[in-house]
Amino acid sequence: MTAKDKYERPVFSLRISITNRCNVKCFYCHHDGIIPQKYEMTDDEIYRVAKVAADIGVGKIRLSGGEPLIRDDIVEIVQKISSIGFKDIALTTNGTLLGKYAHELKQAGLNRVNVSFDTLNPETYRFITRRDYIEKAKEGIIKASAAGLYPVKVNMVVMKGINHHEIWDMFQFCKENGAILQLIELLKTETCPDNDFFDEYHYEMDELENELNEISDDVKTRQFMQDRKKYFLEGGEIEIVKPMDNTEFCKNCTRLRITPDGKIKPCLLRNDNLVDLIEPIRLGYSDEELKKIFLNAIADREPFYKECAETAR
Ligand code: 5AD
Repeated sequence: MTAKDKYERPVFSLRISITNRCNVKCFYCHHDGIIPQKYEMTDDEIYRVAKVAADIGVGKIRLSGGEPLIRDDIVEIVQKISSIGFKDIALTTNGTLLGKYAHELKQAGLNRVNVSFDTLNPETYRFITRRDYIEKAKEGIIKASAAGLYPVKVNMVVMKGINHHEIWDMFQFCKENGAILQLIELLKTETCPDNDFFDEYHYEMDELENELNEISDDVKTRQFMQDRKKYFLEGGEIEIVKPMDNTEFCKNCTRLRITPDGKIKPCLLRNDNLVDLIEPIRLGYSDEELKKIFLNAIADREPFYKECAETAR
C-alpha cells in the first residue's frame, strides 16, 4: 500500500533532516527549507519515524541536514533505520567527514550518497563555503566510491560567473572517481540567508540541456523522480535538477520531509503546513495513531507550482 495525496501523487520516499548544524557555511544554502530548530530527534525517535513511514508504504529514506555526519551517532542511526528493511537508504553530505565514515556507513547499511561539491577551484570553494575543506571533500567522494557506496552523486549547484564554466571539469572529475554529476539549478526560498544572490548567480540551464541532448548517447526522464533528466555520455552520466517554477517537478514529487525536531514537512518550499510528530511520539502514541498523523499529512499535500489551470481555479 502506498499512500497518495489528492493530486494522485504517491509518497515513496522520506527525507529526514537529522540536524540543522553544519560545518560549512555555503552562502546560498536553503537549509533544506527548514527554519532553525532548538532540538534534534534522538536516534530512537528517528527510528520510530522511519518505522511508521515504512508501514504506510515508504520504501526509500534519505538522511540530510545541516550536515548529517556531524552527529556522533550517525552510524547507529543508519544501523537502526537499516534494520527496518528499506529498499534504499541514501544520505546527502558535504563530504568533509565522509572519508572518516564511508566504510562504517556502508557496513551499517547505507546504500548511496550525494555529496554537495560545487567546484574544483580552492578559491571558489572558499568563496562558496567560507571554509578550506576542499581536499577533505574530495577525499570523501573518493572514499565513498572505494567503500562501495553506489552510486556516488556529486551535487553541483550551478552558478553564473562562479562555477558554470567548470561543468566539464567537474564531469571529468566525477568520471575519474566513479561518480555521477548532478547539476542543480540555484533555488530561491524563504530559508535562504538572503535572496539577493539569486538574480546575480542564477544560471539558466536550457542551452546546456540542448547541448547535452545533442551529444548524449541516451536521455532518460525519471518520472517518479520529479521528471528529472538523465543524460548518458561517453564514460559517465549527468543529471539535471530544475525545481524553479517547474510544474512537472512538483507534479511528479513523491517525497515527504521530516525536520530535525520531528515535524512532517510536506513541501521543501513551504513552512506553513508542518505537522508535528515528536509530541505524539513523546506522549506515547501507538504506531496506529502515528500512522494516521502521517496519512493525514499526506492527504493534505499540494504541489507548490501547479498547472496554470489549477492556479486559475
Ligand atoms: N539552490 C539549490 N540547491 C541548494 N541546495 C542548498 N541550497 C540550495 C539552493 N539555494 C542543495 C544543494 C546541496 C544540497 C544539500 O542542497 O544541492 O547539495
